Amino acid sequence: MKKNITHESLIKKEGQELIFDNLTNPRVVSEFIDILNETLNSYNKNLILNFKNVKGAFPNVSVPIAGIIENISLRGIGFEFYYLSEFLKKLSIKTPLRVQENKDLAQKASLGKIWRFDSADDIYLLINSFVDELSQIIVCEKGVLEGFEWSINEVLDNVLQHSSRSFGYVMGQVHPKTKHFVFCVYDTGQGIYNSLLSSSVHKPKNPVDALKLAVKEGVTRDKKIGQGNGLWGLHQIVSENTGILNIISNSACYNLTNNELKTFDCVSQLPYDNGCIVDFQIDYSKEISISKALGGYEPVNLKLESLEDNAGNIKIDLHSKESGVGTRKSGEKIRNELINIYKQSNKNITLDFANINIISSSFADELIGKLVTEFGFYGFNNIFKLKNMNTSVQSIVQRSVAQRMMESFNGKG
Ligand SMILES: Nc1ncnc2c1ncn2[C@@H]1O[C@H](COP(=O)(O)OP(=O)(O)OP(=O)(O)O)[C@@H](O)[C@H]1O
Ligand SMILES: [Mg+2]
Repeated sequence: MKKNITHESLIKKEGQELIFDNLTNPRVVSEFIDILNETLNSYNKNLILNFKNVKGAFPNVSVPIAGIIENISLRGIGFEFYYLSEFLKKLSIKTPLRVQENKDLAQKASLGKIWRFDSADDIYLLINSFVDELSQIIVCEKGVLEGFEWSINEVLDNVLQHSSRSFGYVMGQVHPKTKHFVFCVYDTGQGIYNSLLSSSVHKPKNPVDALKLAVKEGVTRDKKIGQGNGLWGLHQIVSENTGILNIISNSACYNLTNNELKTFDCVSQLPYDNGCIVDFQIDYSKEISISKALGGYEPVNLKLESLEDNAGNIKIDLHSKESGVGTRKSGEKIRNELINIYKQSNKNITLDFANINIISSSFADELIGKLVTEFGFYGFNNIFKLKNMNTSVQSIVQRSVAQRMMESFNGKG
């Protein structure tokens, strides 16, 4: 006998009030779309969104929900928000943050927020911030940051190139416990099926077919504009990392998890453009061979190049670091950045202390002390060179390194 699997609703509807159970299960998005379809056809077009039960939010749920709210508001549905916790306010679920109006925030704390990008300049600023922030808060294995930067560029650019809209939404989030980061990009445009159907030599038979075609090498709606590398490359990078990729567009869903592919064609849709969701998860503890993923192509790492001196060595000017040299947090950020730079480049790194009069002991411990324990005394000396330290800074560093080494020697490090 065929078993009917019924799920309990994740959005409870009481009159015009919608009580969200969570913002972590992607089923919330389809339930929300179903309710909006009913609302569009009903007399009362005002809804109350109640988030009292929401404890956390994942990008693949909150980004499409925020984008849908913003766009469907323009089509006559009114929203009121109940129980917007500090966390949800910070996320900007109600009105995604505009990059141009929040440049400072974008540069300092781009993760964990829903952004709306409206131009190539916005994309450039956001991506730089994402990469900087990731490299300061987590240590990524070789190829991860480069693979991510390449992929997110392609996905965001696709929105401007193909969606038929001039804007989209994006959010990134780090899950340190499982050593993953996740990014979701959403646009409210024509969708992949329509874009390939209307203007390409590829004639997809249905929305699922369109997604399968779009991730193939060389498939583009127009050879004069693109080469069909973007989604193929993203797919290769995620697959090389055994990560997760979801593409949802029109009524179709394409899911790659641990290199197993699943597709289905029954996603809820709004009566107008449904756009496209691209959502991917990378395991940052797993190395990615970019040249293997991209068939021999190795993107130039402009950021690393800009740090190199004439001899090809990397030089970090500590005086120019915005976070300063006084706090443990700043020491940790710079340490992570240095480990990431070393993992990506495998090159010697000079730390220049010029123009620094004094540093705090906690900064010294977090940066130098912990680097010495991480790489070992010999390894540290082989990789790092300390330059232009005055005598006060020297004695602070000496003390914190000695303490740190003693601790690790005693097994407490
Ligand atoms: N956000 C989107 N909205 C609508 N269609 C899209 C979107 N993203 C991708 N597509 C469709 O999928 C096709 C393949 O995308 P892909 O990024 O692989 O190649 P491309 O953008 O055409 O070329 P390249 O990435 O090499 O510049 C696009 O040509 C377009 O038809
Ligand atoms: Mg592309």
